[in-house]
Amino acid sequence: MPSSTTRATILSIRRLSGRRWINYKGGMSDPSPNDRPGFPTTRMRRLRYHPAIRRLVQETRLDAADLVLPLFVRTGAGVRQPIASMPGNDQISVDLLGDEIRQVADLGLGGVILFGIPDEKDATGSDSYSDDGIIQQAVRAAKDAVPEVLVMTDVCFCEYTDHGHCGVIHERHGTVDVDNDATLELLGRQAASHARAGADVVAPSGMMDGMVGAIRSALDGDGHQHVPILSYAAKYASAFYGPFRDAAESTPQSGDRRAYQMDPACAAEQALREVELDLAEGADMIMVKPALAYLDIIQRVRTKFPGVPLAAYNVSGEFSMLKAAAEKGWLDERATALESLTAIKRAGAGIILTYWAKDAAKWLRE
Ligand code: PBG
Repeated sequence: MPSSTTRATILSIRRLSGRRWINYKGGMSDPSPNDRPGFPTTRMRRLRYHPAIRRLVQETRLDAADLVLPLFVRTGAGVRQPIASMPGNDQISVDLLGDEIRQVADLGLGGVILFGIPDEKDATGSDSYSDDGIIQQAVRAAKDAVPEVLVMTDVCFCEYTDHGHCGVIHERHGTVDVDNDATLELLGRQAASHARAGADVVAPSGMMDGMVGAIRSALDGDGHQHVPILSYAAKYASAFYGPFRDAAESTPQSGDRRAYQMDPACAAEQALREVELDLAEGADMIMVKPALAYLDIIQRVRTKFPGVPLAAYNVSGEFSMLKAAAEKGWLDERATALESLTAIKRAGAGIILTYWAKDAAKWLRE
């Protein structure tokens, strides 16, 4: 170790000598990668002048095939009910789904994720695991329209229960709480029923402990060993879900979801534990949700589990806030949407669930 006076001398010599370091033994050493030559030898703008060079060195490239479109399906015929807080998105009846699926195929999107809005809600959300439920009808219609289009289903109870929570509820500490283990059995039934209807991927979003394992064994027990699970592994109790709850009519009648979804104020380590546990239970793909306020989480998951397909949900509130600003003329929707999607992919998510999927695919073609 050089003495502290020697160290001070080395530092001032480095400062003076600029490009090359003179090390303390008196020899020359190559510059470290963090100490490369500066201006004017290096000009970062050289690779930015020409559009074709920018394109050549671009690191993150969005592709329509990365994007998954969420769709809200209800009963009835010829129904296209606009969702006020999510301009351009509608609740549609099953008979109109085929049209959407054909557009998804033409645009080359990665697939769709379906959410069902049942006519009748009850305490256990029984429509969700009925083979004739809204989502099962929707899946059959989608697969009939274009079998090649990937159909995912959201596996949860909040749209189907009269209380709006993500499972069956009981009282604990004087408040309503979702009964974790009682919900697992019903989640298994729901997922198996989705698979029987033809779902290609099931995506549990309820943040119940043990949900992936319960669903895996229910799927396997019903002969669906080939159906992958995309787990919403790191899902935060976020206020950015507001518009979705209008769209899916799934606002809890009392309380909130903080007893099962993650606390936004918790360190990424907790998200990594959630992911690790879901992988151990058999998750094939992992999701982080929301996306934009959680890019750090996406990046941490990507780094720790490099081989696992990673999705991020660019949620309703993230969509609606840009839409609203664009409607006021304050932001350019196309530019900010593409920038947001690029940021999500750059953070490490190869699969992006987004309400811009169709628009983005068109923009990327232009
Ligand atoms: C639960 C579910 C939610 C979203 C997707 N799945 C809502 C919630 O947890 O309250 C939110 C998606 C969005 O905001 O776009 N079934």
